Amino acid sequence: MNQVHAVITGVGAYVPQYRLSNDELSNMVETSDEWIVKRIGIKERRVLKPEEGCGVSYLAVKAIEDLQQKHPFDPAEIEVVVFATSTPDYSLPSSAALTAAQTGMTNAFCFDMEAACSGFIYALDVANGFIASGKYKKVIVLAGDVLSTVTDYTDRNTCPIFADGCGCVLLEVTEEEVGFVDSILCSDGSSPENLHLYGGGSANPATHETVDQRLHYIWQDGKVVFKRAVSSMVDTCEQIVKRNNLTVEQIDWVVPHQANMRIIDAVVNYLGVPPEKAMINIEKYGNTSAGTIPICLWEWESKLKKGDNILLTAFGAGFTWGATYIKWGY
Ligand SMILES: CC(C)(COP(=O)(O)OP(=O)(O)OC[C@H]1O[C@@H](n2cnc3c(N)ncnc32)[C@H](O)[C@@H]1OP(=O)(O)O)[C@@H](O)C(=O)NCCC(=O)NCCS
Repeated sequence: MNQVHAVITGVGAYVPQYRLSNDELSNMVETSDEWIVKRIGIKERRVLKPEEGCGVSYLAVKAIEDLQQKHPFDPAEIEVVVFATSTPDYSLPSSAALTAAQTGMTNAFCFDMEAACSGFIYALDVANGFIASGKYKKVIVLAGDVLSTVTDYTDRNTCPIFADGCGCVLLEVTEEEVGFVDSILCSDGSSPENLHLYGGGSANPATHETVDQRLHYIWQDGKVVFKRAVSSMVDTCEQIVKRNNLTVEQIDWVVPHQANMRIIDAVVNYLGVPPEKAMINIEKYGNTSAGTIPICLWEWESKLKKGDNILLTAFGAGFTWGATYIKWGY
């Protein structure tokens, strides 16, 4: 462990109020509650309706307010805000800056970063780097998405999976034997055809044609993504476990990205970790992309103890993936 490194000292989150049930989805595409529960493991997911609010910064502000309530901090002392999201409010300005302005984090420099569903573990590594450099002491990591805005509700291969939600953590400097320990992060951009959202960027700027071609929605080859997700998460977790001389018994919690219940089961089984040590809430929140891991930490916060060994692992578009080992700090 570095002498100076980051430790999570608080976690917050917010999920929108509207619950989109499998039965409601069954009215949009040819599917059923039974199929979705059996093949994906999701019973319902939250969706941000315009009546409630718009943009991922709406969720982020609520998540910061939740963090503030449980772990009061002076927002003026935050030096950096990193926001992992694939669905920013706008291409520019950043959702990090928008969120900071609305929550009093006026002295921070702020930026968004995109690593799809691996966004939280990428951002955690980046934030740890800022703190380990010795230059910064308080960093906010936000991670979340409003995937309902890029989900094709006529495509049954994708629409049951994706959802909206946002989490955040406060990271502070420590020299104690808790906090960020190690991570392995990977990317492979050689096969974007398997999981993509091709419209609206500089390659396919928005036109009537890109809208007609449904290029502004996520498309995936589910089987390819499934296999890569399992093998990649297992591989990086095993490497982290090995190089930190961890035994399976020493792992207190595994926090897998909530992509599909069968993916989670496979990863947990391969690792040999008892299922009760895995944080799983996919049945009620679905896949909120960068949001899934901090939303799990937020739900399990009261069960965590100082010094708990926690393994985070994620996989997403890019492809991006990795595993991160942290020791809980409070
Ligand atoms: C998408 C996914 C749920 C599909 O499940 P699957 O068990 O692989 O299903 P298949 O692709 O083999 O399809 C089996 C059949 O079910 C159908 N099907 C797909 N979605 C369906 C749905 N929502 N309801 C009913 N049937 C569905 C398919 O059309 C196919 O029918 P066919 O045999 O007549 O062609 C699964 O592949 C998956 O979760 N992949 C990973 C996706 C992911 O995690 N993406 C995010 C990455 S972070």
